[in-house]
Amino acid sequence: MIQFKNVSKTYPNGTHALNNVNINIEKGEFVFIVGASGAGKSTFLKLIMKEEQPSSGEITINGVNTTNMKRRKVPYLRRTMGIVFQDFRLIDKMTVFENVAFAMRVIGARPRAVKKRVLYILGLVGLKDKAKCRPAELSGGEQQRVSLARALVNNPSIIIADEPTGNIDPEMSFEIIELLNEINKQGTTIIVVTHEHELVQKFKNRVIEINNGQVVSDSGAPAEKVEVPIEISQEDLAEIPEEIAEEIADVSAAELSEEALQAIVQGEVEDE
Ligand SMILES: Nc1ncnc2c1ncn2[C@@H]1O[C@H](COP(=O)(O)OP(=O)(O)OP(=O)(O)O)[C@@H](O)[C@H]1O
Ligand SMILES: [Mg+2]
Repeated sequence: MIQFKNVSKTYPNGTHALNNVNINIEKGEFVFIVGASGAGKSTFLKLIMKEEQPSSGEITINGVNTTNMKRRKVPYLRRTMGIVFQDFRLIDKMTVFENVAFAMRVIGARPRAVKKRVLYILGLVGLKDKAKCRPAELSGGEQQRVSLARALVNNPSIIIADEPTGNIDPEMSFEIIELLNEINKQGTTIIVVTHEHELVQKFKNRVIEINNGQVVSDSGAPAEKVEVPIEISQEDLAEIPEEIAEEIADVSAAELSEEALQAIVQGEVEDE
């Protein structure tokens, strides 16, 4: 699902952030990325979401080589991803509710579906009572959870989270990773950068360590975690146009076309 082949990244100022990285992450995996500050972890994530371009090597996401992807195609790539940025990137002028709802509106979800889904997701991250607040009125940990809610709301096939627990107390951190673990069990691929050794030890997921821009260790995927198929019920299919239903009849969501994914997302939210 995510493949890096001999990928290097040198920033314009000459910093070598990644050096000949080879990584293969299968669909349905849950991977922790660890390593010292400045090691290249965020750079690795930014290359996956195509916020940065590799200086050399090849990156393939969902079977699509994104190395030379046209700019106008990038938003489609991003729609398959839920991203928690290290610096949150919330919109200051919008309330918590609006920040999360916005992500659904851009893919054309109906207002009634948006309201239900956003409140549900805010409940999952423990922020329902802050729905009307603006980011400036929240603690760092609360802002982080809004950013997580926004990443989850469209039911993406990949979740990429850069230190999603960096500002959160240990108990809440545990709950957040537990929540991601539950989402992972339903087939979503999850990549989490973290500095917290305790969390990494508690959850027996694959751990990739990056140091000085290189992969210095990779525990590999625990056997039982790999290749979780996504089940799509007949009921879900009934909501989807026939040609798309055919396409998804025997593949997992990770391999779907953008159009098909969107139909599922919208179908699901309209059901609620
Ligand atoms: N836009 C940029 N321009 C130039 N250098 C950059 C840029 N972004 C990151 N770097 C450099 O690239 C290296 C890797 O940075 P990166 O942000 O990937 O590290 P990180 O592992 O995420 O660190 P942290 O744990 O502190 O978030 C660092 O030396 C950093 O200073
Ligand atoms: Mg970082």
